[in-house]
Formats: sequence, structure tokens, C-alpha cells
Amino acid sequence: MDRTNPIGFFDSGIGGLTVVKAVSQLLPNENIVYFGDTARVPYGSKSNDTVVEYSLQAANFLLRKNIKLLVVACNTASSVALKDLKRFLTIPVIGMIEPGSKLALRESKNSKIGIIGTNATINNKAYSNEIRKLNPKIKVYEKACPLFVPIAEEGWIDHKATELIAKEYLTELKTKKIDSLVLGCTHYPILKDVIQKVVGKSVKLVDSGTPAARLVEEYLNGRGLRNISNQIGKKEFYVSDIPSKFRDMAERFLGKKITHLHKVELDELVNE
Ligand code: DGL
Repeated sequence: MDRTNPIGFFDSGIGGLTVVKAVSQLLPNENIVYFGDTARVPYGSKSNDTVVEYSLQAANFLLRKNIKLLVVACNTASSVALKDLKRFLTIPVIGMIEPGSKLALRESKNSKIGIIGTNATINNKAYSNEIRKLNPKIKVYEKACPLFVPIAEEGWIDHKATELIAKEYLTELKTKKIDSLVLGCTHYPILKDVIQKVVGKSVKLVDSGTPAARLVEEYLNGRGLRNISNQIGKKEFYVSDIPSKFRDMAERFLGKKITHLHKVELDELVNE
């Protein structure tokens, strides 16, 4: 394995870019390959079997790009498919649940933590199990917010409808006196201004992106795989549908022009 090989990321759509942003801020010299499964988004309302199948297809696609490490930049896939990905892949695999849970425990002072995520992440109790494993005394309150994913994909960052929906989802959580809220879906940091406005400033929003980036750094250092080039890393993006829509949102979110964006045919994912 060569140090200059890229780090692979996948998500159902643009959500994983929140993790790419955190990793490229911390490790700007790393080359990155991203796959967003925009033809099959959302993952969060699909069955576990389907999410495992799509995740293995995404991982295999990225392995053909010679990635040195896989970041499952999707909480749904991390909740449901991480074990299978770790079993089938020979490279290191990093998911979102562990770093997000550890950060939530560090942030919470009153031991009351809220978790929001997709139906799959919440129904599988990914965060609540992980947090309780780390500290059984913590009180965890969960809520699935599935509409946040299409809203983020649509770019409705500052829209009245987004605030209304956020109020509908989050009002009950607020009554539980949580002091921190895990954004347990990588799409949600895109909507963090609205979410913060609705839950109020006293609630700390916890995003897995930064702790996941630190874990990536640790893994690369530990295995002698850190790219020591002094050039800014190259970023390549692949999506399974409508690249132009992805480009607009991604450029807005990353604050950078995307030069290498390609469409992948579903056949290429399914038949390899
Ligand atoms: N961004 C993903 C997550 O973190 C997937 C959302 C979805 O496709 O439903 O869960």
C-alpha cells in the first residue's frame, strides 16, 4: 500500500461531504475519492439488507480506485453495514457511530443526550447502544428525522419549510432538557443553523465529522500511511445520478470548485 493512495468515502448523497470537509481541513495533503449514491438516496428508509448490499457495492467501487482506507461517511451504513464491511475488506474501515458517541459523552455535562438520525440509524439503536456501552448511566433520547435528508439534498438550508419541519421533529426532544444533540446523519450538519435555532443555543450540536477525521489521522499515522507530500491532495467525486445538482450543492457546501466529478452507471456498481 502506497502513502499517496487516496482515502475513500461513501454516502447515499451529499451528506458525506461534511466528513470530507473535516478530513481535508485536518489532512489537506491526502488524496480523496468520494462516492455519493445519488441515484439510490435515501438509504435511511431502506431495509438493512438493502443498505448492506449498497454499502458493499460502494466499497468495492472505491477499492477499484486503490483506496488505502475507507471512511463510511454515512451513519445509516455505519449502523447497519460496518461489521460486514470490516469482515470483507482488508483495508481499515472507519464508521461514524463510535467517534460521534465518544464526542457526545465528552460534550454532555448533564448526561442527557439527544440523538437524531435516519429511521434505520434510530431503529437499529446504533448511537444509544454505543453510548450506553461507554456509559450506562447516560440518558439518551432519540428521534428519526427522515425528511432532513431530501431537504439537505435539495439545498433548503435557509428555508421556512425547513424550520417548520425542524420544529415538528425537535420540540419534544427539547422538553427532555438535553444539553447535547448528536447529528446522527451526515446530511444534518448541512442544516445545522436551522437545527441550532430550533433547539436553542444551550444545546451543543455534536457532529461526527471532526472526531472521525481525528480517527483517520490516528489510523494513517499508526500504519505509516500518512501522505507526506506537501501538495494539496486531489479530490475526485463520483455520483450515481445527476452530477450537476451534486456539483452545485457540493461547491456551495465545500466552498470550492469541483473539477473532477464523474457519473457512475449503476451497472458498474452492481455487476462488478
Ligand atoms: N447521510 C446518511 C446518514 O448519515 C444517509 C441518509 C440517507 O440516505 O437516508 O445516515
